[in-house]
Amino acid sequence: MTLRVIAIDGPAGAGKSTVARAVALRVGLPYLDTGAMYRGVAFAVLRDSVDPRNEVEVARVAESISVVVDPNGVSVDGRDVTTNIRGAEVTSVVSVIAAYPPVRARMRAEQRAWIVNHGGGVVEGRDIGTVVFPDALLKIFLTASPHVRAARRVAEVGGDLEDIARSISERDRIDSSRDDSPLRPAEGSITIDSSGRTIDDVVGEIAAAFDAAATGIAAAFDAAATGIAAAFDAAATDTIDG
Ligand code: DC
Repeated sequence: MTLRVIAIDGPAGAGKSTVARAVALRVGLPYLDTGAMYRGVAFAVLRDSVDPRNEVEVARVAESISVVVDPNGVSVDGRDVTTNIRGAEVTSVVSVIAAYPPVRARMRAEQRAWIVNHGGGVVEGRDIGTVVFPDALLKIFLTASPHVRAARRVAEVGGDLEDIARSISERDRIDSSRDDSPLRPAEGSITIDSSGRTIDDVVGEIAAAFDAAATGIAAAFDAAATGIAAAFDAAATDTIDG
């Protein structure tokens, strides 16, 4: 079944959050940041003084906590951690814990339930179009050059350009080389390089692609409905005549 989902995947600093939020507003769908969910787990791992290298212990944390992501922010076990999850400590371990299959299984289940509850959404992450929602109405792989990505992060959170570039490339390496749902463009996705482009321009391209996909689905539905009606008429005529 095709879900009213726009999947936006891509590496760190490609502009996914800004673009996904704006697309959600433009097309009238809710927005889900799945990176924030993995960050919530990383926060709980650090809170509980669990060694991030211990997969069994990390999985136990991921399976026992409640992570809620909504437009107001992120909470872990009822505590607002919106700011904490963006800190250097969480950022330095999140890719490690996000590579563990039990953590990913729990997050995938939560993400699918979220979409069912909200009737669709613009979902941002690394494996949304490849694994979580392979039947999404629209799949975008958003990228940008390493230099542009590092410069954007510095503008957002400050810090040294070289350090940030190193940290981004290390996270890219871990996210793209893990066995379970590595970062890569999904089949049927549109790749957009946001280097040197404005947010409005990129958002406009995605919104237009969404309209085209939705129109295509509506036309296919109409064609199928017309086909069914014609077959029904033919069968009814057969019965009456026969
Ligand atoms: O988008 P972000 O930087 O907030 O993501 C944090 C980390 O979570 C990132 O290193 C990769 C991981 N992640 C993931 O593995 N799968 C997702 N769907 C989203 C994020």
